[in-house]
Amino acid sequence: MLKVGLIGIGFMGRGHLDNYIRLESENAPVKLVAICDIDKDKFKGKFVPGNIDVGNQKYDFSKYNLYTSIDEMLEKEDLDYVDIALPSYLHADATVKALNKGLHVLCEKPMALKSEDCARMIEASKKNNKKLMIGHCLRFWPAYEYLKECVENEKFGKPVSGYFFRGGETPAWSYEGWLLKKEKSGGALFDQHVHDVDTINWVFGKPSKVSTIAKVVIEGDGYDSLSTNYIYNNGLVINAQDDWTINGDFGFEMSFRVGFEKGCLVLERGVLTAYPYDGKAFKPELPKDIGYYREMSYFVDCLVNDKPICAAPPESSMETIVIAEAEEASADDMGALKNIK
Ligand SMILES: NC(=O)c1ccc[n+]([C@@H]2O[C@H](COP(=O)([O-])OP(=O)(O)OC[C@H]3O[C@@H](n4cnc5c(N)ncnc54)[C@H](O)[C@@H]3O)[C@@H](O)[C@H]2O)c1
Repeated sequence: MLKVGLIGIGFMGRGHLDNYIRLESENAPVKLVAICDIDKDKFKGKFVPGNIDVGNQKYDFSKYNLYTSIDEMLEKEDLDYVDIALPSYLHADATVKALNKGLHVLCEKPMALKSEDCARMIEASKKNNKKLMIGHCLRFWPAYEYLKECVENEKFGKPVSGYFFRGGETPAWSYEGWLLKKEKSGGALFDQHVHDVDTINWVFGKPSKVSTIAKVVIEGDGYDSLSTNYIYNNGLVINAQDDWTINGDFGFEMSFRVGFEKGCLVLERGVLTAYPYDGKAFKPELPKDIGYYREMSYFVDCLVNDKPICAAPPESSMETIVIAEAEEASADDMGALKNIK
């Protein structure tokens, strides 16, 4: 039975908590034993909801050992792994600390805000021979997995073009407003758009160059609204846009349209539709479980059965940050093409 410590019980930490409760109820070989959060109010159930409907249960925190200090939790608990859902600027230090204590780590995306920090995380994982996975949940999200499969098995032929979008309301839930501070979150580019950067890197491979135009809308934040063209040497036409300043009743949306030689796949408002050019449109049969649950089950399986983290290797998550850094540099330079190292 794997013993877990969850670090950070904000919006996403509660999303993970929901899944530990579910996994335990299904007798999965994992048990959440301790939770750490600097903000004691969280343990009294004082939460601000996020932009999707997760982490909104009434929790019984008396079942867990509670801490407000990461060091104290790591000192006192006998854990197998920690699950880190801290503000992004804290990911690297907390991950390295836990790995150096001999624990495996599941850490939320983005891996870190700088590729040098990602490299430190990978080095600590290797040095301590402990597994590290970054929670790039779209790699476990059924509609995105279907897209990846279609690219690999050429069900509709080879891909021709792709457009990805994420966006919606300005985040208002974060601890001390860290999400809207450039140095802590990297803005929408590193926080939200990074999901699509990782998807594009995973599905189509590393682009050779990027060109990004972007705008700071909220003072003190990083780029809040942006559009990137990904340049591939084989001529693939790929673009992704993000905007977290779309308020009102719009809600949150993640969508894509990918054109292939013989068909097109569209994800819109949570519904995936395939349009083969020689037949009728259809809705592919997909697993019903949410990506977070599937991501966490996968990590548990890799630990219990000592399997390598193939679905989301940390080296690939670092590559995603290298691409995001190039996008930021391009945006700073009015969309100039930047090579991906
Ligand atoms: N995978 C996804 O779809 C997804 C969605 C949302 C957020 N995230 C990621 O999850 C992470 C957390 O984001 P969030 O939206 O939950 O933010 P949040 O502000 O709601 O939660 C962060 C939590 O960390 C706690 N915290 C801050 N400093 C701490 C410290 N030093 N020690 C212990 N606890 C501390 C805060 O009190 C808060 O409860 C971010 O990296 C974010 O990018 C991922």
